[in-house]
Amino acid sequence: MNNILEIRTGVEIKENLCVESPSEPCAFVIFGASGDLTRRKLIPALFSLYGREMLPRGFYVLGCARSPFSDDSFRRSVAGVLEKRFPEASAADLSGFLSLFFYHSGNYQDQGWYDRLPDRLERLDAVYPTGGNRIYYLATPPALYATVVEGLGRAGLIRRTDEERPAARVVVEKPLGLDLASFLAFDSSITRYLSESQIYRIDHYLGKETVQNILMLRFANQIFEPVWNRQFVDHVQITVAETLGVEHRAGYYDQAGALRDMFQNHMFQLLALVAMEPPIAFDANCYRAEKVKLLQAVQGFSAEDPGPRVVRGQYTAGTIDGRDVPGYRQEEGIPAGSGTETFVAMKIMLDNWRWHGVPFYLRSGKMLRRKVSEIAVYFKAIPHSIFAPIEPEQLEPNVLVLKIQPEEGVSLTVEAKRPGPRLCITTLTLDYRYCDIYGVHSPDAYERLLLDAMAGDQTLFVQYEGAKLAWDILTPILSAWSAGTGTGTLQFYQAGSWGPAEADALLARDGRRWRMP
Ligand code: BG6
Repeated sequence: MNNILEIRTGVEIKENLCVESPSEPCAFVIFGASGDLTRRKLIPALFSLYGREMLPRGFYVLGCARSPFSDDSFRRSVAGVLEKRFPEASAADLSGFLSLFFYHSGNYQDQGWYDRLPDRLERLDAVYPTGGNRIYYLATPPALYATVVEGLGRAGLIRRTDEERPAARVVVEKPLGLDLASFLAFDSSITRYLSESQIYRIDHYLGKETVQNILMLRFANQIFEPVWNRQFVDHVQITVAETLGVEHRAGYYDQAGALRDMFQNHMFQLLALVAMEPPIAFDANCYRAEKVKLLQAVQGFSAEDPGPRVVRGQYTAGTIDGRDVPGYRQEEGIPAGSGTETFVAMKIMLDNWRWHGVPFYLRSGKMLRRKVSEIAVYFKAIPHSIFAPIEPEQLEPNVLVLKIQPEEGVSLTVEAKRPGPRLCITTLTLDYRYCDIYGVHSPDAYERLLLDAMAGDQTLFVQYEGAKLAWDILTPILSAWSAGTGTGTLQFYQAGSWGPAEADALLARDGRRWRMP
């Protein structure tokens, strides 16, 4: 058992060292306004920004969807969401916020519905001056994305432009395609109306405080960069483990599976952030170009045989936190013989100078033992021990853990002398936790990302090349799985475990094991 040394003091909050991205007045038009994403993520994030006076002055929300709401009944449904999520909110805040909400009901297939939008928006713009800036947020099922973009394009609300910060921007949620071919087809359908500077592909992991902190830690400090390479790093583990199952998303999830749901986006973004070269500036072009270069260095998988570098698993019935949970195939809405994976572990090698020979092990799954997302950088053993008879291999390697959630912070293990007359070595964990230091939970990732979209800042959004490369890497694996070739057979793991035994074997073959978070 490690001793824990907690560093609780010494935080100097430098108000003057902030990089501001001021939001701009804008109309926030949500397609899919009566849906799940709007209720769970968008409304709460906007309300939090409102409460912190971070919404721009000229701002309103126009909800668009099939549900036959009026402005009033839409506001009542928004109020229902807020009452549950923010029971402590004041009546004044609630009514001020709700007064910014309007609704445009109609059918996604009906061009007339889109054609009536410009007039509605202009009338609202006259009351809430937005300077013509408009965000169209696609919170519909993905099958409707292209339809909505085309409707907006034909209504003259969006058109391709060379401007760097165009007034009309479209935010799209994953999944963007199911493989490389469908991603490319989708992209060419929307780029008839939109240029890259107008497309905001959201990956909410990029808005998480702790994920943004990876950049600060790496590039606002001198001490990490010199050791951040194959000379000093033995390997890196990236874990995103969930205790939840598919919840109410059986239809979507059974089509997608863990590889598309988590790896094409969140996991590869984490990989890129921890392994990329320093960008020359934190702006959309430089920062995203480095992430692309990193993904270009990922050693390809072959469609004939993605194994033994990839393990896919599916949960069976088990127990999590003392509650009995069903197996994936017994979940409501999941076909009894489903072959969809709910867990993936993979070993990634990078073909570049910095990381040659350093494995990156990634794993993510549902219904695992604990909810935890973290990146653990394992440093190499010391070259020689002066503490004979203790050998270098007997000492714990230094491990730097970037804790993304639910615990947020950074820890570093170091070997140290245990106080006493004998020469005993013990492992200390220097542990820095956001909640101890800042005393508050981090804002939801959507808050930051919505603000950035309003400010016309694409830095924390995924660009075309990055999304395409992720599909490039994963499509051979998907093809092999669907063709039943190679060693990628589905392995089963009990809910409440850390995944299938084959995931352990993946590391054991290299003489390593997964960290127990
Ligand atoms: C989503 C996936 O993108 O991320 C979900 O579709 C997953 O399946 C979720 O549960 C995890 O996000 P977070 O922020 O809870 O780690």
